[in-house]
Amino acid sequence: MTDKSATLTIGSEKYDFPIYEASLGPDVIDIGALYKNTDKFTYDPGFTSTAACESAITYIDGDEGVLLHRGYPIDQLAEKGDFLETCYLLLYGELPTAAQKEDFSHRVTYHTMIHDQMHFLFRGFRRDAHPMAIMVGVVGSLSAFYHDSTDITDPHQRMVASLRMIAKLPTIAAMAYKYSQGQPFVYPRNDHDYAANFLRMCFAVPAQEYEVNPVLAKAMDRIFILHADHEQNASTSTVRLAGSSGANPFACIAAGIACLWGPAHGGANEAALNMLYEIGTPDRIPEFVKRAKDKDDPFRLMGFGHRVYKNYDPRAKIMQQTCHEVLGALGITDDPILDVAMELEKVALEDEYFKARNLYPNIDFYSGITLKAMGFPTEMFTVLFSLARTVGWIAQWKEMIEDPNQRIGRPRQLYTGETQRDYKPVSERG
Ligand code: CMC
Repeated sequence: MTDKSATLTIGSEKYDFPIYEASLGPDVIDIGALYKNTDKFTYDPGFTSTAACESAITYIDGDEGVLLHRGYPIDQLAEKGDFLETCYLLLYGELPTAAQKEDFSHRVTYHTMIHDQMHFLFRGFRRDAHPMAIMVGVVGSLSAFYHDSTDITDPHQRMVASLRMIAKLPTIAAMAYKYSQGQPFVYPRNDHDYAANFLRMCFAVPAQEYEVNPVLAKAMDRIFILHADHEQNASTSTVRLAGSSGANPFACIAAGIACLWGPAHGGANEAALNMLYEIGTPDRIPEFVKRAKDKDDPFRLMGFGHRVYKNYDPRAKIMQQTCHEVLGALGITDDPILDVAMELEKVALEDEYFKARNLYPNIDFYSGITLKAMGFPTEMFTVLFSLARTVGWIAQWKEMIEDPNQRIGRPRQLYTGETQRDYKPVSERG
């Protein structure tokens, strides 16, 4: 809170609204009393200037290319930390002590199995179902299996539900993948860490031993960190809105997964990879760059540009480095798609069109190449994103439930439809 206020003038009337101070980034004008005092609503489709909540979890400075979780820069977390530490940080606000870290890892590790009855749910889906369709259904169904953690007024149940989702999402995601491949489900193992366990559940088969490549496990863990949270984006806002009605946490996370599925949000990494394949060879780059700049052509450089980042996406730099590590570990010394990506990035960053509009590579530019090299089919890319983002959604959901100012979300509208008119029987309609 500050003693500053903003004055709005409508005709001859003046109205004062308090300004609240942010610890970083723009302050906000509290217009909660606007309707009561002026009989007017605000209008901001896409929420470009609207803060829908107060949050202490994640901060983004899009102009500077900064992403902080609880104050810690994403590059430090990705280079020095691990995913479960990041989960703890997002949920509890501080990095864990050694004892806390061990306890948290143990609790997550020992909740990775899912109720055995859930196997029948998977078998009800068509084999060619999109794994995101399975994710939406199966994660929502957790509320039908874990009744003892759906009371949102009980802090203990909230935490149990949170841990269950962080622990079980990799199992569910791997099962969605195995089901689509027609392969048997692989159960989790408690002697593997979070990322290695996930890779094993995806790629092991009962017929032979499977050794997890430690470089790939490290890369997977880092990819999870990079996707863990991203402030009030569309899927996170969906989770908050669903949760604001008091819906149980499993249902809220399923709502977030449904929102993430869209190509403008979680689906862009798939589109970026497809684009790189379509370009095929570096000599075709000028042709595609020309198309991206042509306003009469709907083609855009996928993996470029961001609503918030008007600078290099800090996650993209780490993703690029991870991409090189993964290809190196797999002995892929000459990947023509990586050559196209690197040359395209260079050309675009030197191009006046992209420079003038602050269009830089975003996280999706290199993630598709990396995940593909690790063996994931493109349909799984958004599934991996949802797995990693689950902790961010849960942290934001928990913060909302614990916020004393929380009320059910209920946006207003600018109504431009018909005014009141009388019903006509069908025989009188022209
Ligand atoms: N290629 C060519 N031109 C572009 C691109 C692009 N990728 N992105 C933006 N522009 C142009 C756009 O045409 C506009 O030009 P002008 O000012 O001449 O009309 C200008 O740059 C501003 O773009 P905008 O559409 O107003 O920006 P936005 O904030 O509405 O869109 C975006 C952001 C991410 C949807 C867009 O940049 C885009 O479509 N990028 C490609 C898709 C993509 O990579 N999405 C992943 C986002 S990161 C994942 C996540 O965090 O969820």
